[in-house]
Amino acid sequence: MRKNIVAGNWKMNKDLNEGIALAKEVNALAAQAVPKCEIVLGTPFIHLAEVSKTVDDSKITVAAQNCADKVSGAYTGEVSAAMIKSTGAEYVILGHSERRAYYGETNAILKEKVNIALANGLKPIFCIGEVLAEREADKHFDVVKSQIEEGVFHLSPTEFGKIVLAYEPVWAIGTGKTATSAQAQEMHAFIRGIIVKKYGAQLADDTTILYGGSCNPTNAKELFANPDVDGGLIGGASLKAGDFMAIINAF
Ligand code: PGA
Repeated sequence: MRKNIVAGNWKMNKDLNEGIALAKEVNALAAQAVPKCEIVLGTPFIHLAEVSKTVDDSKITVAAQNCADKVSGAYTGEVSAAMIKSTGAEYVILGHSERRAYYGETNAILKEKVNIALANGLKPIFCIGEVLAEREADKHFDVVKSQIEEGVFHLSPTEFGKIVLAYEPVWAIGTGKTATSAQAQEMHAFIRGIIVKKYGAQLADDTTILYGGSCNPTNAKELFANPDVDGGLIGGASLKAGDFMAIINAF
């Protein structure tokens, strides 16, 4: 069964106390509501354990925003998938465009991270999306297709069943420019189509595909109304509990 998910991506915001306070606020709002989706909080590494303890895990789960491409050992400054799992986190966001652009993460590196995450019981939220020049050159479908093929199509059907995809057109991230509802649906339907070819209709139908990029309380309802948009990966608007809850309530 396909799951609807609204996942916050806090990025590099909030110190530990501020993060716990935000998680408490979201938790309190979620307790009063009957959310029609799974709620995920994507926090910095240092928040994971505390936030996991703070939230009601029947409604809210926790995600890291990255993990190491090595299992363990002498990799100063890195955080392994096993460490993340031990905090209580269930997900890890991988391949975010900021990781690809600023930290040189290639599809080959991401493939390793996906494998290690899955081997350690973490579910990847795997991000894909084109930059503006690629869309303007009409290459957006090709770009997204190769990101998916090179990052996750080596997986067995059982493994692929644990993946959440997040389509985030890079030109819409943090810019206030959202893809139109039609552009989002067009790409999401394309993505589901290539999954059908690789893994068959059932698994494609079960796959959650999130939209990300300036999703906010005003546009969430229209975006989520599309048949192939199964929720959102929310950056800026996830830093305010009220806005984040309004997006959750768009379902
Ligand atoms: P945004 O970020 O909602 O601030 O555009 C989305 C993301 O980068 O995941």
